[in-house]
Amino acid sequence: MARRKKLYEGKAKILYEGPEPGTIVQYFKDDATAFNAEKRDVIEGKGVLNNRLSEFFMKGLNNIGVPTHFIRRLNMREQLVRAVEIVPLEIIVRNFAAGSMAKRLGLEEGTQLPRPIVEFSYKNDELGDPLVPEEYIIAFGWASQQDLDDIVALALRVNDFMSGMMMGVGIKLVDFKIEVGRVWEGDYQRLLVADEISPDSCRLWDIETGQKLDKDVFRRDLGSLTDAYTEVARRLGVMPGNV
Ligand code: C5P
Repeated sequence: MARRKKLYEGKAKILYEGPEPGTIVQYFKDDATAFNAEKRDVIEGKGVLNNRLSEFFMKGLNNIGVPTHFIRRLNMREQLVRAVEIVPLEIIVRNFAAGSMAKRLGLEEGTQLPRPIVEFSYKNDELGDPLVPEEYIIAFGWASQQDLDDIVALALRVNDFMSGMMMGVGIKLVDFKIEVGRVWEGDYQRLLVADEISPDSCRLWDIETGQKLDKDVFRRDLGSLTDAYTEVARRLGVMPGNV
């Protein structure tokens, strides 16, 4: 069989050319990195869990009419997605203060925010993904004002869906990050949720105990990352292994 063409290798995923034009195969690695890759490890099984969890969330979003790049899962570690042009932003939605926001504003982690807050980082590893105001995004042409309005609306719909889904299984969605991509349908541009949605890119706390069930377990050395992600998958009824 001919080798597939590798298009890009990131910290947690590899992208290969897909079988049909306009498609990409997204492969989930077991590598875990934090603090812009200053801390790294290989966590056996993480890629399998994130492939399944991201499939679950993206399918759910597609089903309620929030467009995503997800087409179908191919196997334990790979999914077929639409090729998109990634908007070079990390779109972060916060419901409770934690992480960089808690630090920046001197807030106690877990403080409820007056409303969901959407913020943007410029996607650039060398710079450590700096937080940027909308003014920069528009001035530098990374996205238009219309794109930003659409991205905020998309991000808030993802937040409502994910918060409700998590609340149903006793988990608080503290914050999360999404990425968005463009596709063209004729002259018309559509924005889709792209990349992944998984415990690597969310903060998930058990409602009763406050136990962390996300990548902070790795960032802060709080125990087994696989156990945490498996617990999220178990509660949602997403069981890796039953492929
Ligand atoms: O670190 P910070 O508090 O800004 O992260 C906010 C949210 O965005 C967290 O859920 C974190 O996991 C996610 N994030 C991410 N990738 C980044 C930065 C943040 O998934 N590069």
